[in-house]
Amino acid sequence: MQWLDSERILNEAKLSNDSYEITIIDVTKSTNNYLLDQYKEKYIDNQRNPKNTSIVAAELQTSGRGRFDRRWYSGLGGSLTFSIGRWCKQEDISAFAGLSLVIGLAILRTLNHYSIFDVCLKWPNDIVSDARYQKLAGVLVDFKSHAHRLSYAVIGIGINFNLNNEVKAHIEYPVTDLYSLSGRMIDRSVFCGTLLAKLHHMLIDFEKYGFTYFKEEWISSHAFEEKVINLILPDCSVIEGIARGIGDDGSLRLVTEQGTKSFHVGDVSLRIKNDGTQYIND
Ligand code: BTN
Repeated sequence: MQWLDSERILNEAKLSNDSYEITIIDVTKSTNNYLLDQYKEKYIDNQRNPKNTSIVAAELQTSGRGRFDRRWYSGLGGSLTFSIGRWCKQEDISAFAGLSLVIGLAILRTLNHYSIFDVCLKWPNDIVSDARYQKLAGVLVDFKSHAHRLSYAVIGIGINFNLNNEVKAHIEYPVTDLYSLSGRMIDRSVFCGTLLAKLHHMLIDFEKYGFTYFKEEWISSHAFEEKVINLILPDCSVIEGIARGIGDDGSLRLVTEQGTKSFHVGDVSLRIKNDGTQYIND
């Protein structure tokens, strides 16, 4: 196993030092929390001028966060866990709808770059294996928005590289890792650099054109497109329908007996119906 190395990340990403700042830390609770705390200390309390993009990657997170207040488990060196703090022009949080879907797409493109093709997207932002919908990677985006000022987005990415059995035992949904999918150990720093390079360009396009720019590509990689699924709402009620397309705002379109409905990121979690496995969850 090779430890994370900021030089290797930057070399692979070919990004300018002027706008990107990369920090590698051994242990932290959560890289998203680390950047959110830093944001408050550095930029709000002391009014310093930030670099456009800060990246923090950790060898170990002790309280990694997933969506819906779940834990994100990863062992020492067996995962790539990092967050990107980025100042964005949009003032209104709603302008960011679709951002987390674009991040998922960037991870998918990176996997394809490493000749890993047996993977697809699960709305809104999971990367799962084609065959059994086992989760390989997840995305958690936190926002700080300010009226008439730049907003701050913290994009947290967790990718399983080689999970040990102890870590797997904590995870209550089907998981996989890059080693199981590809049969080889991929250097986490190099992979991170490739992903950052792709994200760099994709975020520029997202800020210019919004999610619409990526929509067709996203839909063509959606695991559940045209499949019958169950959506689980926050009150635990379930809506059944056929997943058909994604809105320009990143919402999932579901064809139900009562007509076509849209569901927004954060509202619901999603399971495929009658696929033989017990459940697919976020
Ligand atoms: C999910 O699928 O539920 C989202 C998982 C996001 C995990 C990453 S790991 C790096 C960053 N720090 C966190 O605490 N969470 C995100």
